[in-house]
Amino acid sequence: MSLTTNLELQKKAQQGKYAVGAFNTSNLEITQAILEAAAENSSPVIIATSQSAIEYAGIETLSNLVRTLAGHLSIPVSLHLDHGTDYDIIIGCLRHGWTSVMIDGSHAPLEENIAMTREIVKVAHAAGISVEAELGRLVGVEDQISVKAEDALLTDPDEAVRFVSETGCDTLAVAIGTSHGAYKFKGEAKLDFDRLKAIIRKVEVPLVLHGASSVKREIVEKGTQYGARLPGAAGVPEEHIRKAISLGITKVNIDTDLRLAFTAVTREFLAQQPEVFDPRKVLGAGRQGMKEVVKEKIALLGSVGKA
Ligand code: G3H
Ligand code: 13P
Ligand code: ZN
Repeated sequence: MSLTTNLELQKKAQQGKYAVGAFNTSNLEITQAILEAAAENSSPVIIATSQSAIEYAGIETLSNLVRTLAGHLSIPVSLHLDHGTDYDIIIGCLRHGWTSVMIDGSHAPLEENIAMTREIVKVAHAAGISVEAELGRLVGVEDQISVKAEDALLTDPDEAVRFVSETGCDTLAVAIGTSHGAYKFKGEAKLDFDRLKAIIRKVEVPLVLHGASSVKREIVEKGTQYGARLPGAAGVPEEHIRKAISLGITKVNIDTDLRLAFTAVTREFLAQQPEVFDPRKVLGAGRQGMKEVVKEKIALLGSVGKA
């Protein structure tokens, strides 16, 4: 099946009241884990590549890899640029078959974010590609920002209305208290659901939740048992993800949970089978660990059977 856009996937998800998982990849094994898990669950899926993933693997390699693996499947797949900030990389993605790009101007002042998003919308729409933009900032424990200052960085519902209408973006990533990485909360995990409700009431385009990994205790414990050092790691509880979807989030971004699963499982494998030195066996174990996580996420997001 040929690739589809995020907008198509998220519009269907809006109607069906579920969310589509966007999983980050940068190599063969991660891509196989994501696509196999999605295909076995008849689920739509978004393959996300960050700019650093593109730098790591090469734009042609990633494009060919995803298109070849997805081409054999009968589930809808989108190839998405995650957190695009570099104009040349965004244009490169449009030329190399990406079907969706994110322009991330969230660190810039509002007017600048609007201007750069509008520019990308113009070129991407001319190529038939959908555009995700971001308004509001994601801050984690490591950013060391006070609760009050963090609150001021979250997405403002009225600003979101203006942002969407002035940029023409197809989907919008919102900041409601999640953050990237494995250290999202100190103490209780809190998301601003009232803010999310207000945004959803006012904004019509499909919404995206970044920083949605749950950082599961069992996986952190397994990694730690075999030598990982992850003190204070904490993610978004699964019930918060369910609630966000019930309120209207239709794309959920997950990267950290796959990284944690890969490293925990390969650490365990190497510790338990010290005689093995075939990379395929080590990476194969890691791939299986990530595939199980993707399957769990697809069930959590409610996208099983929605292909
Ligand atoms: O949101 C960021 C993603 O987790 C990708 O991270 O730039 O390390 O590939 P990365
Ligand atoms: P996590 O770090 O929580 O997996 O978030 C990933 C993400 O938002 C990618 O854009
Ligand atoms: Zn993100």
